[in-house]
Amino acid sequence: MQELPAIEGGKPIRPNPLRYKPWITDDDIKLVIDVLKSGQLSAIGGRWNTALEQELTKYLSTRHAITVSNGTTALHVALKAVGVGPGDEVITTPFTFAASATTILHSNAIPVFADINKETLNIDPASIEEAITDRTKAIVVVHLAGYPAEMNDIMKIAQERGLYVIEDTAQALGAAYRGKMAGSIGHVGTLSFYPTKTITTGEGGAVVTNDDEIARSAKLLRNHGETGKYYYELIGYNYRMTEFQAALGYSQLMRIEEIIRHKETFAKVLMEEIQDVENDLIQFPRPKPYIRHAWHLFQLLLNLEKLRVSRDRVVDALRAEGIEASTVAYPIPLHKEPIIMNMANHGKGCPWSCPYYGKKVSYGPLPNAEWAAERVVTILLGPLYTTEDAVDTAKAIKRVLNYYRR
Ligand SMILES: Cc1ncc(COP(=O)(O)O)c(C=O)c1O
Repeated sequence: MQELPAIEGGKPIRPNPLRYKPWITDDDIKLVIDVLKSGQLSAIGGRWNTALEQELTKYLSTRHAITVSNGTTALHVALKAVGVGPGDEVITTPFTFAASATTILHSNAIPVFADINKETLNIDPASIEEAITDRTKAIVVVHLAGYPAEMNDIMKIAQERGLYVIEDTAQALGAAYRGKMAGSIGHVGTLSFYPTKTITTGEGGAVVTNDDEIARSAKLLRNHGETGKYYYELIGYNYRMTEFQAALGYSQLMRIEEIIRHKETFAKVLMEEIQDVENDLIQFPRPKPYIRHAWHLFQLLLNLEKLRVSRDRVVDALRAEGIEASTVAYPIPLHKEPIIMNMANHGKGCPWSCPYYGKKVSYGPLPNAEWAAERVVTILLGPLYTTEDAVDTAKAIKRVLNYYRR
């Protein structure tokens, strides 16, 4: 007997919906309150930003960590710190959050998109090679969903072609690639501490690097380019994180492994429970033996040919079952977004019609990214979900997909 999905009038699997919530403990709250009571709220003169930076360098094994106001400003700082500017091209993936590319535009450079690998959904090194021109300055690699990209291949290409590699590790703090922490492999890595990320400060981020020069520039860019009292060496920003945010981040970082273990358990149970529809109705990136997945998102790819409804109907149906953690990341690959398609200039013609560029870029089809964007269903993984939550999520997926099977 076919079970009727809730969206078709059946009884929802979850009367109490599964919703994402960050994990904030009493210790987190106490520390933030203590900082608020201390009156030292800004990083200038405070100690919590330094403490968070020190712990990040230990956790990631990098020489430097520089806290900033969010993951977007972290990318902007990283791009500028490696010298990306007008006339440069930067290669990135189209299957990511907008900030991976808009920060290239903020730096007045041209984003160029390479296609993705259909198995991991990460940027494909072979496609990077095809996208390199004499203008290419850097590659922004995104470890999508917490799954690290093929860094060995990417670093080899970068070395051969003299390019900088920026690891957008917004979604992958805690992930590892062949024993190295994601974010610590390229020339510079960026982190986000948005509430859905591995650890959170509400809004927040960091730049990490082993390169002393990049670290110096990043610190200056974060704080107005000030090298002495009211002495400004380069045009910087105010991208600082507050002290109470840094304290929250520090407190969260103390239990990051526990946070990841919770998500790992959920993902393992979910993978086991949906095995019987794998390959037939769905596929999903399974971590290779040399990968440690940070499990920010669980990405399911629908076998649309075997279903009689659209992907959006499937997501609505999962939400109707009470799996409100289901969403779509990302429905439109960036090369199809209006900001790119229309080449909406900011400022007077830059970056696309910048005289330093003097070329015409075109954004052609990227079949793998388009394929993924059309069929991806995303479950946002939370640190507070239980094994029962994973079983319910699997039940909802199977109920919905089996019902809509052609
Ligand atoms: C891949 C990626 N890059 C960058 C960012 C930007 O981070 P933030 O939201 O902290 O500015 C995000 C955040 O969602 C992201 O997912």
